[in-house]
Amino acid sequence: MIHNFNAGPSILPKEVFDEASRATLNFNNTGLSILEIGHRTPLFKSVMDEAIGLTRELMNLDSNHEVLFLHGGASTQFMQAPMNLLNENDVAAYTDTGVWATKAIKEAKLFGHVEIVCNSKEADYSFLPKEFEVPPSAKYLHITSNNTIHGSQWPDLSLFNKYGVPLVADMSSDILSRQIDFNKFDLIYAGAQKNVGAAGVNLVVINKNILGKINRSIPTMMDYRNHIEAGSMLNTPPVFAVYVCMLTLRWLKNKGGVAGIEKINNAKAKLFYDTLDSLPFFKGRIAKADRSKMNATFTIEDAVLEKEFLELCNSEGMIGVKGHRTVGGFRGSMYNALPWESVKALTDLMKEFASKKG
Ligand SMILES: Cc1ncc(COP(=O)(O)O)c(C=O)c1O
Repeated sequence: MIHNFNAGPSILPKEVFDEASRATLNFNNTGLSILEIGHRTPLFKSVMDEAIGLTRELMNLDSNHEVLFLHGGASTQFMQAPMNLLNENDVAAYTDTGVWATKAIKEAKLFGHVEIVCNSKEADYSFLPKEFEVPPSAKYLHITSNNTIHGSQWPDLSLFNKYGVPLVADMSSDILSRQIDFNKFDLIYAGAQKNVGAAGVNLVVINKNILGKINRSIPTMMDYRNHIEAGSMLNTPPVFAVYVCMLTLRWLKNKGGVAGIEKINNAKAKLFYDTLDSLPFFKGRIAKADRSKMNATFTIEDAVLEKEFLELCNSEGMIGVKGHRTVGGFRGSMYNALPWESVKALTDLMKEFASKKG
């Protein structure tokens, strides 16, 4: 059996793979593949409508918030968000909590002033700073809810409400994994390839009231308002990727929605971190309070043993356990679709290895 701990694209539910493969040959008994239907046909319109409707329902969105499925992955949002929200002389507040946050900051600087309100770079991004000020004049505060590479996650997102400025969040690696008040955010974006579906599409949730307040001209494809008006069909959408998102969202709803999956995610994270803490042989990278329930990062001090453990993981069918190339060590990604049994298999292997080599 393969246990897929990849950080993204990553494991999706088996039901989704089954249904998507059927649809690749014969979509809804039309005799046509999902890959060859026109995006303006009623057939695809119903897929897009259902994907948007399920997102609204699962996130419990109010009528101010619009759901978009856009091209370009989360990295395009690093640029698109400030382009739509920030005038040249405005200030945007950014939390620098890891590699992806740093990339978002770099793009925002092209459009206005960036004030970095907190930063844990000196400590290798091993914790999330909780005490910081945000200028009241900031057009928005940008956060990365889960830092995929380092393995940290803001434990309580309501922390940011007190600043009274619009909130923008990159939720690429933990969206729909835990219950939060999504309506408190004015812009949420997430590359779909972790918890939402297939690579090639970006889920964007936006409070339409924050748009239309800047002076610059925005290229047609970059203006959120055009995408809202066109129902995410301003041009040809990534049809198959949106379809896989729709199937994954259906699966999530059947699992009891975000509340249902959160219970499972908590159980997986507890199993993993309880095991990690019981084995001094392995070291966690992140301060306990800020550990990610999606991406667990850890190390072994001895590089030779680290290599050996990685080889053992591979030989036992556990793939994707190698840490990101910029930080090394190990990373077990435990997204929504990863079964509890996979975490059990990894933790059993850790115990076995530590007892032999520790
Ligand atoms: C938190 C976060 N933001 C942004 C990205 C970039 O996403 P994309 O490759 O879709 O541009 C990633 C990718 O892993 C991520 O984890």
